[in-house]
Amino acid sequence: MSALPPAPAPPVQRLAPVQIDRPVPGSTRDLDDARDRSPVAETPLLVIDLRQIRSNAHAIAAAFSGMDPLVYYAVKANPAPEILSTLAAAGCRFDIASLGEARAALAAGAPAGHLAYTTTIKKAGDIRAAYELGVTLYTADSPDEIDKISAAAPGAWVAIRIAVDNTGAAAPFGSKFGCAPEQAADLLRRATRVGLIPAGVSCHVGSQQLDVHAWDKPIAAAASIYRAFGGELPMLNLGGGLPATYTDPVPAVGRYAAAISQSLDRHFGASRPHIILEPGRAIAASAGVIHCEVVQVTHRHGQRWVYLDVGRYGGLAETEGEAIRYPMHAPDVGGPLGPVIVAGPTADGDDVLYHRYRPELPLALRAGDRVVIGCTGAYTASYAAVSFNGLPPLAVRCAFDSAPVAWSSR
Ligand SMILES: Cc1ncc(COP(=O)(O)O)c(C=O)c1O
Repeated sequence: MSALPPAPAPPVQRLAPVQIDRPVPGSTRDLDDARDRSPVAETPLLVIDLRQIRSNAHAIAAAFSGMDPLVYYAVKANPAPEILSTLAAAGCRFDIASLGEARAALAAGAPAGHLAYTTTIKKAGDIRAAYELGVTLYTADSPDEIDKISAAAPGAWVAIRIAVDNTGAAAPFGSKFGCAPEQAADLLRRATRVGLIPAGVSCHVGSQQLDVHAWDKPIAAAASIYRAFGGELPMLNLGGGLPATYTDPVPAVGRYAAAISQSLDRHFGASRPHIILEPGRAIAASAGVIHCEVVQVTHRHGQRWVYLDVGRYGGLAETEGEAIRYPMHAPDVGGPLGPVIVAGPTADGDDVLYHRYRPELPLALRAGDRVVIGCTGAYTASYAAVSFNGLPPLAVRCAFDSAPVAWSSR
């Protein structure tokens, strides 16, 4: 086996300010196709507005600018190559969860030093391959994972993910990830012993987090871990969780930044570490609109059911448990509206989007009419089944100006 290359220079020494505003000439592929303003012919189709992607990333960077954060886009939210190249050209970094995502980010033009392999569940072979691609920042939450990283990526940086309360999140992580905060200093010491460079603590307060103060306890826990560890820990990874606006209003990003800044002051004082943010939903969700078609309208047990050509398996997986409630409307059909039960097209009984939330759609809605589902840029195409019921995965079209097909709330 050939020897592994030496670890590249530590990422912290190569931090550049996020410049989301920089123009992105020619950074997306298929721009001619992306500018195609023709009406949507084939549905279901997810249309992504790249301008919105860029402005969402800019809004986060601007809101947190006082903290000089490093923004790593969580590729899992939507890995469309055009999104990645738009963000890479804007100076954004990338939070990757697999080797495939690492390759996608590199292909989009990101330098390997701008990637963080943050899932705590990685195969040794994938760590080794990522390391050979130049990825030097990893996350772990167990002794086993630390040892794996040290063997496969010697000399790399490692952050320790702690388990934190996810109350307030529409999509919490349960107890799958993170060590107890009391174990973190020991894991950081273990990382040092096995030749890794301890980077600091990482956490995730749950996705679509609606409590702006949710990061306070994790920041307090991190501060005491940094004190217990004693040595230098340059980073604090605050994960994702910033929300998107679906059917209900959410706090503005500036309120999250203000609350986090106060927590950093309170718990770290003047010795703040570099802040890492890993937004996925807050960058991608509001940039996407799914165009779909009504397959059937029927009345059952006194309820009006609308069956669409997209459902839980076609990309709307986050409707499970009604975690995410998407806004919907039928732009081409007028007249009075009424509540409906919305279901997907497959032969699966679970393919009913909502039972409690009843979107209001026109009473005149018929098979063949178009329905648009707003705020669907995140966790939709990446969740779609590849061929359940023989249906193709959700198609995606990215454009710099998707005005003709953009979501408009009514
Ligand atoms: C480690 C990690 N970071 C960031 C994210 C992105 O979270 P969000 O989309 O809530 O910003 C996720 C989502 O699963 C994650 O697992």
